[in-house]
Amino acid sequence: MGGKGSMMRLDRLVSSQIYGISRADVKKLCLKKKVMVNGKLMARSDAKVSVDDEIFIDGKRLVYREHVYIMLNKPQGVVCSTKDGESKTVLELVPQELMREGLFPAGRLDKDTEGFVLITDDGELSHRMLSPKSHVPKTYFVRLEKPWEESYGEIMAEGMTIDGDNGREKCLPAEFKGSDSDPYECTLILHEGKFHQVKRMFGTLGNKVIFLKRTAIGDMQLDTNLALGECLEIMHKDVENLLAR
Ligand code: URA
Repeated sequence: MGGKGSMMRLDRLVSSQIYGISRADVKKLCLKKKVMVNGKLMARSDAKVSVDDEIFIDGKRLVYREHVYIMLNKPQGVVCSTKDGESKTVLELVPQELMREGLFPAGRLDKDTEGFVLITDDGELSHRMLSPKSHVPKTYFVRLEKPWEESYGEIMAEGMTIDGDNGREKCLPAEFKGSDSDPYECTLILHEGKFHQVKRMFGTLGNKVIFLKRTAIGDMQLDTNLALGECLEIMHKDVENLLAR
């Protein structure tokens, strides 16, 4: 939809930006004199407006965003999908003011993994981000069942071969760092996203992941002020920067 300066029908623009408002609702709001564009009441919902116009709906400024980008601190027990019959989905954690049609998680974490999930309605950006060629690094904090071993660093840096339901898979080199203060804790940076990859890598080494949290995507850290289950809107340019590196 509209880049900077582009024109479109008022009802289309408003309903694309406010979740739960249909074009018919915009028409009713216009008739009730609740819609102002550049300081003038707008009676017709089919009028052409620009995405740069100053639009107020019922006294509230509408700031046009072509797409939204949301950082979620996913709690355990929530699934990274748009619909699920049984479990709560990440979309159910998006607050009303950031909600809109077409949102989806750009990448998945397991149900029992916590941390940074990017939610967007920008299919093109998500496609670039998830493409096997993109190699955007993802950082994980890991707690293991048994103490980590010095050898893990070298083995993971070489690119491990891991077991799985689809046979053996070769991984890209990954960066492992054991915690200086806790023999059970470590950080792992992956440059790809195979199914259950962190768990399978440690499983292949005879260890077990007992807690997993994604703490960064590229150089964007999960905001430490964000409580589990909370969302924060992030800027398009910051997400683009993740891909530019
Ligand atoms: N690796 C895993 O094993 N699980 C996740 O959720 C993410 C990476």
